[in-house]
Amino acid sequence: MSAIPDTFRAYVAEQRKDADGTAHIDRGVREFAAADLPPGDVDIRVHWSSVNFKDGLATRADGRVARISPLIPGIDLAGEVVASADPGLTVGTPVLAHGYELGVSRHGGFAEFQRVPAGWVVPLAPGFTAHDAMAIGTAGFTAAMSVVALEDRGLRPDDGPVLVTGASGGVGGTALAILAERGYEVWAVTGKPDEHERLTSLGAAGLLTRDEVAGPGKPLESERWAGAVDAVGAATLPYVLRTLRTGAAVAASGNAGGPALETTVFPFILRGVALLGMDSVTVPISRRRAIWDRLATDLRPRALGEHVSEVTLDTLDEALDGIVAGTARGRWVVRIGD
Ligand SMILES: NC(=O)c1ccc[n+]([C@@H]2O[C@H](COP(=O)([O-])OP(=O)(O)OC[C@H]3O[C@@H](n4cnc5c(N)ncnc54)[C@H](OP(=O)(O)O)[C@@H]3O)[C@@H](O)[C@H]2O)c1
Repeated sequence: MSAIPDTFRAYVAEQRKDADGTAHIDRGVREFAAADLPPGDVDIRVHWSSVNFKDGLATRADGRVARISPLIPGIDLAGEVVASADPGLTVGTPVLAHGYELGVSRHGGFAEFQRVPAGWVVPLAPGFTAHDAMAIGTAGFTAAMSVVALEDRGLRPDDGPVLVTGASGGVGGTALAILAERGYEVWAVTGKPDEHERLTSLGAAGLLTRDEVAGPGKPLESERWAGAVDAVGAATLPYVLRTLRTGAAVAASGNAGGPALETTVFPFILRGVALLGMDSVTVPISRRRAIWDRLATDLRPRALGEHVSEVTLDTLDEALDGIVAGTARGRWVVRIGD
């Protein structure tokens, strides 16, 4: 079973070392042989992929994300099934896949075709296009997971203001758009003054600058937030912890500002605050499919598709470098093929 041509176009990242041991990465589009794909149950013609922070790291010599070389990066993809050994995923079914090993230790979405295990595949909900799916992508899925985690713990719109950090980026911007659509009073933290108007149009009721949240503070400050979504980490997450209201939670998924976390235990032991870790990579497929179904319905982000820039395999470099440099404004989708 294969409907993948002998060779197809793919963006490939290959690590190499100089004689003196210095690491380099060669990256760009090349013809890739189908024979070099790993085994799998489902062949997918990829129509769209997207650019996530992890993809930026997977294409850098110092990124510490890629587990194989050469690697077709791209931690998510959407397209249609062109061959399948799984009776539940017939030829022509529109699908997406992300997480698990995709784009890290197994070839990913920056390619015209990909082969994956059936247990990684999510059929697209009716009325949801492959472009919609990748406008959301892994970052947006993580935002949805964060909202679900907070609401599963009891958060409701009338509980009070909710904070979203890194709001101009993929996780933050989608969390803002989902929460606003659900009726929350959302406050957005951004380091980009020229994004204020866009974030307000996405639904931000108030804005904080990155400087307002990144400085040192007392172990506990005035109780302000009924909940929070944070993908920045670094100095931002300690601010969130010391300003959450009693019993509130933050869903933490990222380290766009850095991985270190310096806090005290007081938010936990004096206010019962909860730090909820979000890992989109390992989510079991049944839960993953359920969250994607909700992204097409009651968790559909406001203005889906309006804050998206388009690149192709040939113009990926700028987006990959930009996302690591922190210049993201909304999401980048990758048009594959015609
Ligand atoms: N746990 C998971 O499963 C999972 C899934 C997806 C993503 N992530 C992680 O979540 C993070 C965000 O991913 P993303 O795709 O949303 O990236 P992104 O689109 O680049 O957004 C990150 C945002 O963080 C802010 N930021 C960037 N550098 C910063 C710095 N030095 N200090 C403070 N804020 C900074 C910027 O927003 P402003 O300029 O508006 O402040 C930026 O737009 C990454 O660490 C990524 O690896 C984790």
